[in-house]
Amino acid sequence: MKAHLVTYGCQMNEYDTHVVESQLVALGVELVKAVEEADFVLVNTCAVRGKPVDKVRAVLGNLRKTKRERGLLVGMMGCLAQLEEGQEIAKKYDVDILLGPGALLDIGAALESNKRFWSMAFKDDIHDFVPPAPQNKLSAHLTIQRGCDHHCTYCIVPETRGPQVSRHPDLILRELDSLVEAGALEVTLLGQNVNSYGKDQTGYPDFGDLLRMVGKSGIPRIKFTTSHPMDFSDNIIEAIAETPNVCKFIHLPVQSGSNKVLKQMGREYTREWYLERIEKMRSLIPRLFISTDIIVGFPNETEDDFLETVSLYDAVQYDSAFMFIYSARPGTPSYKHFADMPKEIKTERLNRLIERQKHWSQLKNSRLIGQEVECLIRGAAYEPSFMEGHTEGNHPVLLPVAQAPVPGIYRALVEHATPHMLFGKVTEVVKQAEFMPMQLHSPVFSSLDL
Ligand code: 5AD
Ligand code: SF4
Repeated sequence: MKAHLVTYGCQMNEYDTHVVESQLVALGVELVKAVEEADFVLVNTCAVRGKPVDKVRAVLGNLRKTKRERGLLVGMMGCLAQLEEGQEIAKKYDVDILLGPGALLDIGAALESNKRFWSMAFKDDIHDFVPPAPQNKLSAHLTIQRGCDHHCTYCIVPETRGPQVSRHPDLILRELDSLVEAGALEVTLLGQNVNSYGKDQTGYPDFGDLLRMVGKSGIPRIKFTTSHPMDFSDNIIEAIAETPNVCKFIHLPVQSGSNKVLKQMGREYTREWYLERIEKMRSLIPRLFISTDIIVGFPNETEDDFLETVSLYDAVQYDSAFMFIYSARPGTPSYKHFADMPKEIKTERLNRLIERQKHWSQLKNSRLIGQEVECLIRGAAYEPSFMEGHTEGNHPVLLPVAQAPVPGIYRALVEHATPHMLFGKVTEVVKQAEFMPMQLHSPVFSSLDL
């Protein structure tokens, strides 16, 4: 059998795709790069906003056509598969295999069953499973906890991924060792709520202590995502400050700058509390890069509430931000209790915030000119004679291929900056890769600013 997997959504989905791919390989299935070559296509889905759901509908529509033309086994996994909405879509598009995020290891049973196989159970085996290290990847993912015990009113994740379950630290360290062995130079620890790691189990380290343990593994760079501000303890901040190989980069979704909106979102903190956490981080970690997630147009958000988000943005001066328009998701409390606002208002606010973010990204990136950054270079850029990678602060960066001919870690002096990209000159080769990772050739949008 030849299988092709399509992945939508977050880094946790990318990790889950790897988990399922490794299971398929163990079963003797060949992985292929295109639908045309495959007799089994499995779509890993995201349900957090309406747009990714629409994409899945379109892909499944096309797959149904192929299925009618030449026969094809079609599967759907991930967050959407867990929801009634997803199951209706699966029925409509004649999906054969449906696996919720807690049932991924049923893939073998699903293929063996030779008939329609749908499983939405939350099973424990997924937490103990240590997938083999991906080959030829310099930057690897490692899921350390699944699910979420917070209940933000807009978020479908508690429905799709269930309550928080932390993985045993020994399994995490074992998986990390295998990544180091396979030549990874950077690991991103993943979780819906990565920094509340350990809280659901007795005898587990908290996230700060886990970072210290992971730091000893010798992997050159450690990142983590996504953190909830409420769970960002002093111990975690101290662990980041003290552990040299933990990147000084924190992604800390704020969602809104208005206390009224934060309350209606069920975020559990106030603007003042969030700003105090940022201050504490900056006082203990001198050169810290910070990014965030923001939702604009949450129900009942007034122009004044929105301006509070803009002013919080100005107060923090984020290095980068992911900004989203509120999407009313069936199954969430905010969908049930609040009326959505007109799309035009949401879009107009989003555009204003994007402009503001561009301003800060340009300013913050320009301030790096003349400073050194550490770059993980992954391969050739779309732009001729450049190699592409990202810094310890997650800035996309381009270095001349003549100075960074091989993927690996380089220190570089920043010479030029756009809001989305740094350009540097190599000052030190820290560690070159022992293998050639896949070439990237992905277009770099911001180079248009040159
Ligand atoms: N509408 C818009 N954005 C959302 N997010 C989560 N749920 C929604 C929604 N219903 C955003 C949040 C979160 C990120 C992963 O997705 O900003 O941090
Ligand atoms: Fe969703 Fe909130 Fe949990 Fe994040 S913390 S996954 S936004 S419920």
